[in-house]
Amino acid sequence: MGRSDARRCGAAAALLGLLVGLLSGVGVLTASPAAAHATLISTDPPEGAVLTAAPEQVVLTFDESVIGDPGGTTVFDAAGHEVASSAAVRGPRLVVDLDEEVGDGTLVVVWRLVSDDGHPLGGSLRFSVGAPSEVVDVPGEEVHVDTDAPWRLGVLRWLGYLGLLAAAGVAAFSVLFLPGDARADAARDRLRGAARLAAGVAAVGWCFAVPLVALYQLGLGASALRDGETWSALAPAQYAVPAAVVAGLVVAVTVMPVTPPARLRVVTVLAGCGVALAAPALTGHTRAADPNALVIGVDVLHLVAAALWLGGLLAIALVLGDLAADDRHGAGVVARFSTWAAGILAVLVVAGSLLAWRIAGSWAALLDTGYGALLLVKVLLVLVAVALASWNRFVLLPRLLGAERSLERRDHAATVVRTVRVEAGVLVAVLLVTGFLVDRSPEPESAVAPAVQAMSKLVDPVRSVTFAVP
Ligand code: HEM
Repeated sequence: MGRSDARRCGAAAALLGLLVGLLSGVGVLTASPAAAHATLISTDPPEGAVLTAAPEQVVLTFDESVIGDPGGTTVFDAAGHEVASSAAVRGPRLVVDLDEEVGDGTLVVVWRLVSDDGHPLGGSLRFSVGAPSEVVDVPGEEVHVDTDAPWRLGVLRWLGYLGLLAAAGVAAFSVLFLPGDARADAARDRLRGAARLAAGVAAVGWCFAVPLVALYQLGLGASALRDGETWSALAPAQYAVPAAVVAGLVVAVTVMPVTPPARLRVVTVLAGCGVALAAPALTGHTRAADPNALVIGVDVLHLVAAALWLGGLLAIALVLGDLAADDRHGAGVVARFSTWAAGILAVLVVAGSLLAWRIAGSWAALLDTGYGALLLVKVLLVLVAVALASWNRFVLLPRLLGAERSLERRDHAATVVRTVRVEAGVLVAVLLVTGFLVDRSPEPESAVAPAVQAMSKLVDPVRSVTFAVP
């Protein structure tokens, strides 16, 4: 690649970053404040109501779609006996049919659902028929709504992201940045082996996370996995996303070439990577953030840029030594990647910052919430990686490019590989933090607490429950 070509690529990459920033900025600036979990906005009958006759149905309305939880809703009479009922979710409404006659007195509906962003929600509603009961003795089965995911899920998410970004990134690097002649065939072969291994890690991470997500969202123990209802309660997207990740990666790493690739192969590898990288944006916090389509688009760009960065580093660490040994091939590959790296980094940081704003919602949330604290750790690690990338780009790469003799070139290539390994290691740590971030509730503790308090008030016979009804 000539100098003017490189400059053109660099300018194109920087322009892309700028465009992403501008487009997202316009959309996001005109958007309403960031969305959080679903919030209960009204109930019919209202909390504390005294009715002349028993209703046939109880309806709870939320400000966004919710997902049902089998066995998550129970109706009790004042003596704590369960009243026969059946519950169904219709969009943003939980509709509870009372299937048996009830006499006068207080009824308590204890409910548990899953918010569109994947976090569990819970609470209770109390109303009376005829007159309130003097004593309300609902059994003390406290519904503990734990909004933070178990650590095992965080570890699997980490494996899933690591495998996905490494496999897709290495595959994309192989078809985009390696020279198109036979001298790079050995490098192509090595990268294909690495991408296949990474795709295997991704498959383990994404597939084994599915049952853990089910148990976390439904608040159940491992034995519930023997029950078909547990599996059917999961939203279809929780199956579709891992399936798309695995299918996209299988296509990409199967088609990855070991000889100079034909255009169709290149397109197929990139399409497989694209499908695998776009899928994760369809679940999690991005689903509940506004403006939804734009946030999902920004998330896809974030994932693509992250894959290109991590994949590029891993690929350079794997093949630069061999490529640099004989001629200037190796330096040329690194130079080509470095030209794009500035644009990739710009897209990654701009997209990540926009996601942070739409999900965390405010500067205060960065300091007040566990989510914000994890995000700050992530940003600090990214700063370290950026510093290493700059050192590579502006100090080590010119030395490699300027090396005249083979021995000198090999020495400089070895230094670049060492720094690249450390940089990749920092990105692996960034992904570990991300694995825990995506399932952590961005809500401040104070917003979660009322639900739990409301549940514990159920065992208090005197006070009425006042959960989340504005
Ligand atoms: C300044 C830099 C960055 C910021 C501010 C940032 C911020 C974010 C935020 C807010 C999210 C959404 C988390 C959620 O769902 O709650 C996210 C997701 C993610 N980030 Fe970053 N990030 C940055 C850099 C990186 C880097 C360097 C990598 C990897 C090399 C990375 C990989 C990811 C991945 C894999 C996801 C998950 C996306 C999904 O599942 O939809 N991020 N990031």
